Amino acid sequence: MNFKVLPETFDKEDFLHNYWQKKPLLIRANGKTFVDPVEPDELAGFACEDFIESRLIQSHPANGSRQWTLRNGPFTEQDFGRLPETHWSLLIQAVDQWHEGVREMLDDFRFIPSWRIDDVMISYATDGGGVGPHFDYYDVFLIQGLGKKRWRLGGHVDSNSALIPDTPLRLLAEFKTEEDWIVEPGDILYLPPNLAHYGTAIGDSITYSIGFRTPSIAGIIDDLSSEIMQELREDQRYVDTAPRIPARTGEIDARVADQLIDLLQERLLNPSKVSRWFGRYMTTPKYPDLVPVADNQLDPDALRQALTEGLQLVKNPSSRFAFTEHSPSDAELYVDGHAIACPASLTDLLPRLCETGTDGIPLTAVCDSLLHAGDDGAALLARLYNQGSLLPDLDDEDDE
Ligand code: SIN
Ligand code: CO
Repeated sequence: MNFKVLPETFDKEDFLHNYWQKKPLLIRANGKTFVDPVEPDELAGFACEDFIESRLIQSHPANGSRQWTLRNGPFTEQDFGRLPETHWSLLIQAVDQWHEGVREMLDDFRFIPSWRIDDVMISYATDGGGVGPHFDYYDVFLIQGLGKKRWRLGGHVDSNSALIPDTPLRLLAEFKTEEDWIVEPGDILYLPPNLAHYGTAIGDSITYSIGFRTPSIAGIIDDLSSEIMQELREDQRYVDTAPRIPARTGEIDARVADQLIDLLQERLLNPSKVSRWFGRYMTTPKYPDLVPVADNQLDPDALRQALTEGLQLVKNPSSRFAFTEHSPSDAELYVDGHAIACPASLTDLLPRLCETGTDGIPLTAVCDSLLHAGDDGAALLARLYNQGSLLPDLDDEDDE
């Protein structure tokens, strides 16, 4: 299908400079046609699968602040049959991993590093349905598909803001509308993190939320330090580097803090360790079970042979690829939480390996280049295949 989501006139530089992570922006479709890549029935089908994360939020306006209820999927056809005509919203997470047309929507957002993109969540709502007044910790592009939605935007809020008690949803107890917009098919609303927002469907509505990975600082420190701790031994200890008789024996003076900071800097803030850890952290799949190791493990020669005989590889839609170039001859590839040191012969190929095949197109050209690069290239392909990040192109087999 390959349709553009962002209008031709969208100025990416201006957006990154003035809006990204700062303030909301409503990007109107201005008459540009928008064709939903999925149908409501397909979404209901996804919500019935136990390996797809889905939620159903209902509102009962007569119940005041107790109006919101949440149910987690999987659902059944009977569940949908029992729903009222209005005031509910079905949310399906990571539809990009299951639907090629939805995955293609991400192509327009490659001006933001791919490792920042989390997933495309889709909501199907009936009249009056929505998820209530809330905020998210991450940036989001809300692309309106079918129907219309009213978006009320509030101010900046954070984890100290009061929430409605006794609901399983994180809903804001207070919401002061500062902007009030009605969006139509193809309109896009960008929201920075921590901005209060409240969407309500006007008639049946589909909204595509492109969400981003924004690790918390607590998560960063916790995970990085756990990783570094694995290499530290009990006998590596604090040492008094310049002992002297203290003027006040109970005092921990600034020199001690400086010494601790040096120690932490040396252990925790080693640049290559930090980028290796971050690469692994950011490429960890959202649903690791969807990247199982290959049943038939292949050695590099066997894979080379299979590729020469016509096997086509595609990326696992649940896989995440990124790389760091430490120097022109020293780079690391990060795939699905693994860090793979790459020799100089492969360094030039990493950007293409990370960029191509995101849309289900076989990686033929990159595979050829990797095979031409020699044994290291074949070994890399075999490793990615064996760990489940590259898959045989089943469409290709169907075609034959
Ligand atoms: C929706 O699609 O209605 C909810 C998306 C959001 O508010 O983040
Ligand atoms: Co939200």
